[in-house]
Amino acid sequence: MTIKEAMKERHMVRKYIDRPISGDVEEKLNARIAENNRTYNLSLSFVAGNTDGLGALAKMLGKGVKNYIILAGPDSADLDEKLGYCGADMILYAQTLGLNTWWVGGMYSAKGAQKNMDSGSVRINGVLAIGYGQTQGVPHKSKTAAEISSYKGTAPQWFNDGVDALLLAPTALNKQAFTVKGDRNKVYLACDSGHFAGIDLGIGKYHFEVGAGKNNFDWA
Ligand SMILES: Cc1cc2nc3c(=O)[nH]c(=O)nc-3n(C[C@H](O)[C@H](O)[C@H](O)COP(=O)(O)O)c2cc1C
Repeated sequence: MTIKEAMKERHMVRKYIDRPISGDVEEKLNARIAENNRTYNLSLSFVAGNTDGLGALAKMLGKGVKNYIILAGPDSADLDEKLGYCGADMILYAQTLGLNTWWVGGMYSAKGAQKNMDSGSVRINGVLAIGYGQTQGVPHKSKTAAEISSYKGTAPQWFNDGVDALLLAPTALNKQAFTVKGDRNKVYLACDSGHFAGIDLGIGKYHFEVGAGKNNFDWA
């Protein structure tokens, strides 16, 4: 399964079966995490064998969560966007490995997650629960392309493909508060989802790039 295929297959899964992630798969996840951390100066980390990173409500809603990725990094103005971008990469990569995921950006426990991290000087903003789902989840209710996008003139295929991919992105409370505007090879993407705007924007950028093809456009 490619990342592009994974965008269609991935849905939020809160309930997991009792199947451990093998050492081989964990190694792959850790290698991908290390690559994201290096490239974007982040401190994502994989945790196995506890639910410390989940808040009380998430513990009630979820079942069988045993592993998660902590979204964290040195604080900066664009930290949330980078966490969204790299978090999107991780949930889609996990999907290609046959895993399922649940983005817990509101109901996580920063204190609990912190106990499982080496560095104390980073900001944590969410966890990604990860494991083998009881089900594959269901597609989220979606806005239409026309509701979130416009292109000056006739939209090229890559733009339409980018918007379709964007609509598959997970967003906090499924708000899909995106505005996309295209003009020649320039694309402007904004996200108006309050507290989650930065993270949702990063996730949206990742999805749009995979759908449209990075070489076809530049961010405005
Ligand atoms: C930034 C962010 C924060 C989220 N926080 C939570 C959360 O705290 N609790 C929860 O149950 N789901 C949370 N979700 C999951 C969303 O509700 C879910 O991704 C959305 O409904 C779209 O569904 P999908 O993931 O199946 O595409 C969050 C998702 C994102 C992107």
